Amino acid sequence: MKAILQQTFIKKVYYYPQLGSTNQQAIELIRAGVAPVPSLVITDCQTRGRGRGHNSWWSGVGSLAFTVIFKPAKSSLSVCRFSTIPLVVGFSLRRTIQAYLSGRLVTLKWPNDILVDGKKICGILCENEQGYQKQHYLLVGIGINVNDPRNGAPEELQSVFVSLYELLGVKNDKEELLINCLENMEMDLRRFSGEGFLYFRDKWSDFDYLLNKIISINYESSVATGKYLGLSESGGVLIDEDGQLNEYISGEVKVVRD
Ligand code: BTN
Repeated sequence: MKAILQQTFIKKVYYYPQLGSTNQQAIELIRAGVAPVPSLVITDCQTRGRGRGHNSWWSGVGSLAFTVIFKPAKSSLSVCRFSTIPLVVGFSLRRTIQAYLSGRLVTLKWPNDILVDGKKICGILCENEQGYQKQHYLLVGIGINVNDPRNGAPEELQSVFVSLYELLGVKNDKEELLINCLENMEMDLRRFSGEGFLYFRDKWSDFDYLLNKIISINYESSVATGKYLGLSESGGVLIDEDGQLNEYISGEVKVVRD
């Protein structure tokens, strides 16, 4: 853990051998007003990991599960900038994982999934929390399947799960991977605060799993279907629905046709 403090932007590490959820623990630390920013909450064993929407997140003993607590600068708090931070983090993590997997394209699925051969290797759950004196915090919770064999994952995940170990056949040092993730995040978040989201929007298309696929997105209580054309300037998805270009800024995406 010392290396994390020495080599990265993290000011304090909260390590727990076992936790329900690193995001939940981060919320409790914020509410208690104790965590300096950026802090890292990390565990070896997460028993009630949360996923996006109503999903849960399975973490095996070989997984990396951690949350970074940020306090975004005031200039990042406009809705557009704030909502694009998770996309920037996904961009950084994709590059980090790609460095371990030469010869295979690691892809991004809006908003926050990182996939290899269409299977999920990393999930990101960003949550907002108001702390003491209504200070605004952003929690970025990250789960990466590192040293878990596929047969260790629950039955229902078998067809969508992939880990670095499954792809490489060797185990990797989780702390080294974590430091690489944090270094890339710092680099990209600095660029983001200087240049904004456009740089990332333009590069995203090189790794975009959804590009030109027919997708459906459920938003509010309806479902839209059309050809996915990429990200909008504010980080939403652009869909061609019978010749009309529409933007959706939230929702759950499913691929209907390749
Ligand atoms: C998703 O793909 O639905 C997001 C999964 C995010 C999982 C991580 S693991 C660390 C952090 N703590 C949680 O409870 N969830 C996130």
